[in-house]
Parts: sequence; structure tokens; C-alpha cells
Amino acid sequence: MDILLPVILAYLLGSIPSALWIGKIFYKTDIRTKGSGNLGATNTFRTLGIKAGIVVTILDILKGTAATLIPLYMDTNIHPLVFGVIAVIGHMFPIFAKFKGGKAVATSGGILLGYQWPLFIVAVVALLIALKITKMVSLSSIILAVVAVIYTLIYALNTGDYPFLIVIIILASFIIFRHRANIARIKAGTEPKVKWL
Ligand code: G3P
Repeated sequence: MDILLPVILAYLLGSIPSALWIGKIFYKTDIRTKGSGNLGATNTFRTLGIKAGIVVTILDILKGTAATLIPLYMDTNIHPLVFGVIAVIGHMFPIFAKFKGGKAVATSGGILLGYQWPLFIVAVVALLIALKITKMVSLSSIILAVVAVIYTLIYALNTGDYPFLIVIIILASFIIFRHRANIARIKAGTEPKVKWL
């Protein structure tokens, strides 16, 4: 089958700007003008509240999961993880939001859910532990990215699944790169902390 169609589908799935659309449709708010301005779950929790935050988290996760599962419903020889990475690229540079999207965390998590769900559980637990300690979602996401690389390195050495390791390194690099502004704020001591933990 033509590789173009599944690749475009993965990009379009990732491009769905759930934070923008949920904000605009249900709260008449463009969250790009609020909080950190980021089109992601954290900024949705911050500016629109817990209900909207949960919905956006789930939708952003499912984008990565659905893209990773494309080979199940389309005839393609491309590795499932490639579609997941393309969805994350869509999430970061969405065609439906002037190519200014989120920071890759939830959608990367969705890839784990679709490809290796036990690691998704490990990632959620690791994120919550890091969040409890640091109180910063951004720093916790960066810590999670590093932990995922270490975990997957050990996993790949034992199973030979090196494509998975490469993908996790790519996703971790995306996550760290997209948190540049947060890293500057963490260093300056001005990064917002969550109050509910
Ligand atoms: O997933 C994004 C999160 O780590 C940081 O979001 O809005 O605080 O920049 P934000």
C-alpha cells in the first residue's frame, strides 16, 4: 500500500489540537492566551480546570495510541512506532493550529499505551512520583523522559528491541527540547508549581 496515506493519517491525528478545540468550544477560551500559552494538558488543567484537563489528557494520549495502532487497520509494512512519532510531530506542529502545538508528553505516553502498555503504567507512576517530589509538571516530564530512556535501554539490552529504544530517545529529545522555556524558568525559580499535591 501507498505509505503516504497512513503517514498523513498519523500526522493529522497528532495535529488535532484538543486543548485548543475543547477550550474554544466548551469554555469560549483560547488557552494560547492564558497561563503558559501551551496547547497541552497541563495548561488546560491550569486555565480551564480539572474536567477539561482530564479530557485533554485523555484525547492527547489517544492520538499517540491510535497512530501507533495504524498498522492494525491499514495495510502497511512500516513499523508501528514510526506512526506514533509522526503523531507526536503533528502534536508539536499541528496543521490545525498554525503549527504551534504542545510539548509531546501526553501523546508520547499514548505511544507507550499502544505499543507497550505496561511501560505506560510505569510512566504514569514515575510521573506522579516525580510530581509529588518536584511539584512541577515540566520538571517531572523531563525526569520521566530520562527515566524512560534508561528503562528502555535495559529493556532493549534484554529483548533486542532496539527500534523501541531509538524511538524513546527521539521522543525524550523532543520533550526536553520543547521544554526549553520551562528549563529557563526552573533555573530562574519562576516555574509554576502545582498546588493540589
Ligand atoms: O506537558 C507540558 C508540561 O510539561 C508543561 O506545560 O504549560 O507548564 O509549559 P506548561
